[in-house]
Amino acid sequence: MQRKKPRPGIEKKVQDLENEIKRLKKQNQATRANLKTAQAKLQKSSDRLRKTMGGIIQAMSLTIEKRDPYTAGHQRRVTKLCRAIATTMGFSWERIQGFRMAAVIHDLGKIQVPAAILSKPGRLTDEEYEIIQSHARHTLNILNKIRFDREKREIPMMAATHHERIDGKGYPLELSGDEIPEAGRIMAVGDVFDAITSRRHYRDRMDFLKVLNIMDGDSGDHFQPEFVDAFKRLPLARIVSILESGNLDPVSAEDMELFGQYTLQALHDLLKNRENLAEEDAHLVERFEHYYARGITDDHAGIDD
Ligand SMILES: [Fe+2]
Repeated sequence: MQRKKPRPGIEKKVQDLENEIKRLKKQNQATRANLKTAQAKLQKSSDRLRKTMGGIIQAMSLTIEKRDPYTAGHQRRVTKLCRAIATTMGFSWERIQGFRMAAVIHDLGKIQVPAAILSKPGRLTDEEYEIIQSHARHTLNILNKIRFDREKREIPMMAATHHERIDGKGYPLELSGDEIPEAGRIMAVGDVFDAITSRRHYRDRMDFLKVLNIMDGDSGDHFQPEFVDAFKRLPLARIVSILESGNLDPVSAEDMELFGQYTLQALHDLLKNRENLAEEDAHLVERFEHYYARGITDDHAGIDD
């Protein structure tokens, strides 16, 4: 039989195709390498942007505190409280980062409140009170001017809703229940707790049993009950470290260990029943009240903990 001879030109075509495949493979490799470099560059610049945004937010936070010495440290402590509550409730790390960013500038709108009103000791007139309340709306308006990236776009609403109440009687938007961002609802718990446990130069800290009774009493009206419950499940050591943050005199390691064995709820139960305490429980109450009653020497620590 006669063998078929390869048609002229076919071999050349095969060769050309092989060469083309080789060329495309090379091109593909180069494209992948370029893509990798571009991705790394993008990641770097987005990290830089995030750091810049963090720095701006920190600067804004410190500016507010400098203008309003009576609430110095307030935003820092509220941020720590929010983070602790949100962590106990199992929120993701990303969401907690968003909550923290909102909490650290929640009173930004105070920049538009005259310093004389902010630092006025004692009772405010109705008009002055209304001006102070307007800070929440100012927070919203100022933050709305910033173009946050997609996952942070809720920060203005989160920050501005820390005075909303779940019964709808809060401000500035009179939202109720789920209409209030979770961050606003968590912040409400931290904000009130910090306000009534803070000292002003014209008044001392509120009695701690009264503080905890207020937190319980306002659960369901002002606060979402689940967030108050999560707050009260926090170890007492965490609460003490927040109450004492910025204090130059540290809490002793021995007392911290003791506070780590009780929750805030456990302390509340003991304070309600303080006439009949076992010796070790009485010791806990005595150690807690020692720190709660002592003066604070603020070192203006940073906002991170
Ligand atoms: Fe506020």
